[in-house]
Amino acid sequence: MRLVSIDEYNHNLMQLAKPIYDKQRRILLAAGRSIHPVYLDRLKEMDIRYLFVEDAESSGITIDEMVDFPTWIDAIETVQRAFRAAANKEELPVREVQKLALKLAEEVGRRKAIVLVPASSLAEELRDFAHAVNTALLSLKLAKKRQVSQMQIRDLAVGALLHDIGKAIAEKEEDHAKEGFEFLRKRREISLLSAHMAYQHHEHADGSGSPRGLEGSQIHEFAQICGISNMYDNLISKGGMPPHEAMEYMMAKSGTVFTVELVKQFVQEVPSYIPGSKVRLNNGRKAIVTKILNSLQRPFIRYLDTGVEISLAEHHTVLISGIIEGEGSS
Ligand SMILES: [Fe+2]
Ligand SMILES: [Fe+2]
Repeated sequence: MRLVSIDEYNHNLMQLAKPIYDKQRRILLAAGRSIHPVYLDRLKEMDIRYLFVEDAESSGITIDEMVDFPTWIDAIETVQRAFRAAANKEELPVREVQKLALKLAEEVGRRKAIVLVPASSLAEELRDFAHAVNTALLSLKLAKKRQVSQMQIRDLAVGALLHDIGKAIAEKEEDHAKEGFEFLRKRREISLLSAHMAYQHHEHADGSGSPRGLEGSQIHEFAQICGISNMYDNLISKGGMPPHEAMEYMMAKSGTVFTVELVKQFVQEVPSYIPGSKVRLNNGRKAIVTKILNSLQRPFIRYLDTGVEISLAEHHTVLISGIIEGEGSS
C-alpha cells in the first residue's frame, strides 16, 4: 500500500487500498477495486487530493503506524458531533470525547510511531475534524515521549481534540482560541488544562503568537505540545506537504515558534519517510520505503530495480536525497 496524489492515480496499475468516504462518512468507493475514470473526476471535484493504493511496487507494504481507518473515521464522527453541539448550543458530548481520548491514547501507545492520514484524503466537510484527531494523535505521541503522567493523558487528548472548537462558535476565526477557551472552561467536566490548550495553541515560544503573545514557560506545556502538533498537521493536511518537507519546516521553527527541546523531541517521534514513499538515494538509485523498525529517520527501503531490501540504519552511507513524486508507477 502507498499514498499517492490523485493526479498520479493510474487505473490500469492501481487499486484502491482504503475506502473513500463522502461527507456523511458513508463509503463512496470500496477498497480492493480500481477507480473508474468517471469517479476519479468526481473525487477531484470533491477536492480529494490523496488516495491509498495497492500496486506492484508497493506490494507487501503495510502502514502499521497508521491508525485503522474505521477507528479514525469513528473518531472524526465524535469530534464532528462535539463541534455541532457547540455550534447549536446543545450539550457537549463530553463523555464520548473522553472515551475517544482514552481510545486514541491506547492506539498511540501500541505503535512505535504515528503516521497521519492526510485530511485531504477526505471530503472537505470532514477535514477540520480529521485535523483535530490528527492533532490529538501527535500530541499523545509527544506526551508519551515527555512522560506526561497517565492521569493527565486524557485531559491532554481532550484538549487536543477540542483545541479548535472555538471555530464552531466564533464569528471571526482569529477569535477561535479565546472563544474556545471561554466555552470549555464553563464546562465542569472538562479540565481547565484542556481549556487552556484551546486558548494557547497559537502562542509562540518567542512571544510572536496569538491571542496574548505569551512567551516561553508562560505557555503551558500541553499547549506547546498541541501547538506543534497543530502546525505539523496543518502542513500535511491543508498544505499537502510531504512529511519530510513538513519536518524541515518544523525544524526551521526551532528556537522561535517552538522551544529547541520540543522540536528535538518531535523529530525523534515523527517519521519523515513513511512506508510506501518512493525515494531517490544518494547512490543514484530509486527505492520505496518498506517499513520503519528501529530508527524513525532511517527506515527500510526496497530498491525498485532489483527488489532487494536493506535497512538504512545499517547502511550508513546510503542516504535519502529526495522523494519521487508524480511519476505514476513508471
Ligand atoms: Fe487553531
Ligand atoms: Fe488547529
